[in-house]
Amino acid sequence: MGNGIAHVFAQYGFQVNLIDVSPTALENAKNTITKNLDRQVAKGAIAEADKTATLSRLQFLSEMDAGVANADLVVEAATENVDLKLSIFANIDAVAPEHTILATNTSSISITRIAATTKRPDKVIGMHFMNPVPVMKLVEVIRGYATSDEVTTKIMDLSRRLEKVPVEVNDYPGFVANRILMPMINEAIYTLYEGVSGVQEIDTVMKLGMAHPMGPLQLADFIGLDVCLAIMRVLHDGFGNPKYAPCPLLVNMVTAGKLGVKKGEGFYVYTPGSKDLVVADRFK
Ligand code: CAA
Repeated sequence: MGNGIAHVFAQYGFQVNLIDVSPTALENAKNTITKNLDRQVAKGAIAEADKTATLSRLQFLSEMDAGVANADLVVEAATENVDLKLSIFANIDAVAPEHTILATNTSSISITRIAATTKRPDKVIGMHFMNPVPVMKLVEVIRGYATSDEVTTKIMDLSRRLEKVPVEVNDYPGFVANRILMPMINEAIYTLYEGVSGVQEIDTVMKLGMAHPMGPLQLADFIGLDVCLAIMRVLHDGFGNPKYAPCPLLVNMVTAGKLGVKKGEGFYVYTPGSKDLVVADRFK
């Protein structure tokens, strides 16, 4: 999601340093941002000059220290892995200026826990964007236990400057978005696992019956089944309630490496260049 977040900030006039340890990831990010800007130009959402200006505000760096040394805001968007996030925050805290706000795009990891690894817990906040970031309007703004009113107000205002709609929520497992979305996805997987219906049928019920733009199984493939499983585990551990137990089929698929779009197979199979929705052989 990092490339989408960088894209949106640069599009709305902010100078952005996009930092990743992997040069390949940086190259991919640049290509994706360019492709998504081209799509916006083709749809008439922005002018060609906006695309050029957006790209000129982006710098791609593999050195974190240099990237955050003069930042007013850092938005972390690493993989959903607690230890990795905690170590990244400890590093950023050590090098970023005192006034810098540290935001995380985590989809479920506790803001309070991340903040506690820094010396500025009042300036740590959740800024949860939705995929695809340039299109989706929501930013879930999550206040950790120690996040100050001033920082919350700044991040709410900043989100509006990106033409997003911020919603303020408190820091409890899954916040609001994933506390509601993930049990629905998990229940859709249970419905498949128990043989109540098939992949396409379950998705069709939710698309046509509930006006969801994509069915829960397809959405799970887009989010990544490993991410869905990680979030279910956060809910299960955080509330200690068996209703959040991840479906054994979800666990098996993640163990087998069938993670959805990024691996070419989940509930559906994905062929580059094709938009056809083809159910994976396993579920036919
Ligand atoms: N994640 C990543 N990419 C997505 C996506 C998603 N959830 N949904 C759509 N896209 C991509 C599509 O793959 C497509 O890309 P390509 O052209 O490169 O293949 C592009 O967006 C356009 O999609 P559509 O062809 O569907 O175009 P559209 O204009 O008809 O609709 C849309 C676009 C409004 C985004 C629609 O696809 C939609 O509503 N998708 C679901 C979005 C959603 O539910 N997002 C929330 C996911 S949860 C999350 O992000 C947070 C979390 O913590 C888990």
